[in-house]
Amino acid sequence: AEVVIVGSAVEAGAIAADRIAALVARKPDAVLGLATGSTPLPVWAALRERGVDLSRVRGFALDEYLGLPPGDPESYASVIARDVVEPLGLDPALVRVPGDDGGPVETAGARYEAAIRAAGGVDLQILGIGRTGHIGFNEPGSSLASRTRVKTLTDATRADNARFFDTIDDVPRHCLTQGLGTILDARELVLLAFGEAKAEAVAGAVEGPVSASLPGSVIQLHPEVTVLVDEAAAGRLR
Ligand code: F6R
Repeated sequence: AEVVIVGSAVEAGAIAADRIAALVARKPDAVLGLATGSTPLPVWAALRERGVDLSRVRGFALDEYLGLPPGDPESYASVIARDVVEPLGLDPALVRVPGDDGGPVETAGARYEAAIRAAGGVDLQILGIGRTGHIGFNEPGSSLASRTRVKTLTDATRADNARFFDTIDDVPRHCLTQGLGTILDARELVLLAFGEAKAEAVAGAVEGPVSASLPGSVIQLHPEVTVLVDEAAAGRLR
């Protein structure tokens, strides 16, 4: 991976937004892989500043909680609509989130995979990384070849995401997530991480053994990866 240590999250957002803008300039209907959580927010902010026309861009979210009431504001469908689709002017009909077709959850993964394939695959995947080393919601122990499926969130991830809910008991226990194999199929990966809490996971992902015990380490198997980290998140790199 190409590791870029940036001065700030804003700087990382600008670099990632430039990548997206260049992609969309050459392919106006590019397929973007969308992450949620806090990490990608500076990317969306920088893209908005650039005023790039994203009206033909197609999008596939990495993951979605299971068990939230339909339309819950913390569902990733709501988050993507609020943080990405509306402010950046994407066409909501061109943006998908796992399980958003209302079909049976058991086969939602296979349907999502088929939709990504039908779109011609993801051109550029934006990734955050969890403290556990997860990408998407592929927690430690996930198969390196995994595809979109139902997973159980770890207690650590539920605690980290409790900030978006009233109490930790409101954080869902299960999710649908693109698999590690699905993520590796994207033509380009841009992983961002900020803050000391991510330093261990970043070091493992970039320099550790490729292992299911640190799922983000699969990025080492991909030929086109950029890792954008601030000084704190880079703190454990050698
Ligand atoms: C979100 C996702 C997760 C997050 C990760 C980091 O769609 O798949 O892997 O990227 O949990 O979350 P933040 O950015 O909130 O620290």
